[in-house]
Amino acid sequence: MNFDVLIHGASEVVTCTGTSGPAEERLAIQRGASIGINGDRIAWIGVDAKATGTLELDALGGFVGPGFVDCHTHVVFAGDRSTEFEQRTQGKTYLEIAAAGGGIARTVIATRAATEDELIALARPRLERLLRHGVTTVEIKSGYGLSAESELRMLSVIDRLAHETPMTVIPTLLALHSIPVEFKEKRGEWLRIVNEELLPRVAADKLARFADVFVEQTAFTHDEARVCMEAARKVGLSIRMHVDQLTANGGAQLAASLGSVTADHLEQISADGIAALAKAGTIAVLAPTSTLFAKARPFAPGRALCDAGVRVAICTNCNPGSSHSENVFLALGLACVENGLTPAEAYLGFTRYAADAVLEPERGRLAVGSPADLVIYDCPSYRDLPYHFAMNDVAHVLRAGRPVF
Ligand code: NIG
Repeated sequence: MNFDVLIHGASEVVTCTGTSGPAEERLAIQRGASIGINGDRIAWIGVDAKATGTLELDALGGFVGPGFVDCHTHVVFAGDRSTEFEQRTQGKTYLEIAAAGGGIARTVIATRAATEDELIALARPRLERLLRHGVTTVEIKSGYGLSAESELRMLSVIDRLAHETPMTVIPTLLALHSIPVEFKEKRGEWLRIVNEELLPRVAADKLARFADVFVEQTAFTHDEARVCMEAARKVGLSIRMHVDQLTANGGAQLAASLGSVTADHLEQISADGIAALAKAGTIAVLAPTSTLFAKARPFAPGRALCDAGVRVAICTNCNPGSSHSENVFLALGLACVENGLTPAEAYLGFTRYAADAVLEPERGRLAVGSPADLVIYDCPSYRDLPYHFAMNDVAHVLRAGRPVF
């Protein structure tokens, strides 16, 4: 058996393909296995001392797992919000800063003022940092344009990044991230533009896979979100929603009732909200670095969500305001220490369930026929990732069968 690429010498291959049982079983670990890759797909996983590869990579006793899927990011933006970070250290809250004209509105001003080339140059190193953390698939949201023209420009930047980065990029339209300042006194007009002009255009030109909305007292109400998400579904976009982040507002129940693929954040979710997600099969996306960074405690109840049978995904939520970090391993560590997940649940949350969260069900797992997106680590077990707290033990990253780091 000769493959284009053979990875051998691994302590274990964490396939994330188990279909039932506790999280440790769903990791479906194959100890001492090798992986054969032909073209951009996995061709073989098994033990055979005679297997060879045109390119052979020795994992040197480290473990091998699927490329990470960062299923919620805002990496396209200009400007910085370090002064808001300082204000929070002095006791101001994220909501107070937003209500005083800072927050998302501040990034919108800087992002509108930047050229497409400038936005690409700013996003590129963020994506490179994610890649070095083992991310091979990344979701990127618009949401810092907040006019029809500049939201389309953000999607164009995301598309250009998708063509130049070795990662798989999933674009999301987040035109309802905040009310644009120009529409403060005429919210209905912005909603009409989004529902009647932007969504049909984005769907027709296939500029995004998802439409998203921020349901919060500084952003959009349930009714506004419902109308927009229904309009998005009508034109063929899938939907996802930022809910129950800073104030408890029953957003999880709304997301579940609308058929949202995900409900993101959930620091303030109620017991009814957890039950609603479980019943609807909505994926919970937790962003623990933003709970920490934005001082938006409590951490989302990851333990209760897992116990209720909800698929829980983890993300970096990399953005300038609430989570200025590409550190996947900090997110994994916090998911264990603060959200109450086990290392196996957290690992599934950044691989398999994160892939489900962006509707890429072949990714986030290692199986014959699946895309050859994988990571070779310097440590012998997935358990080492959250335990070696916030540190990066990635040795090699392959995407579509090609070494990219
Ligand atoms: O996911 N919650 C809303 N959106 C971002 C924050 C964006 C910002 O502050 O710039 C989030 O946390």
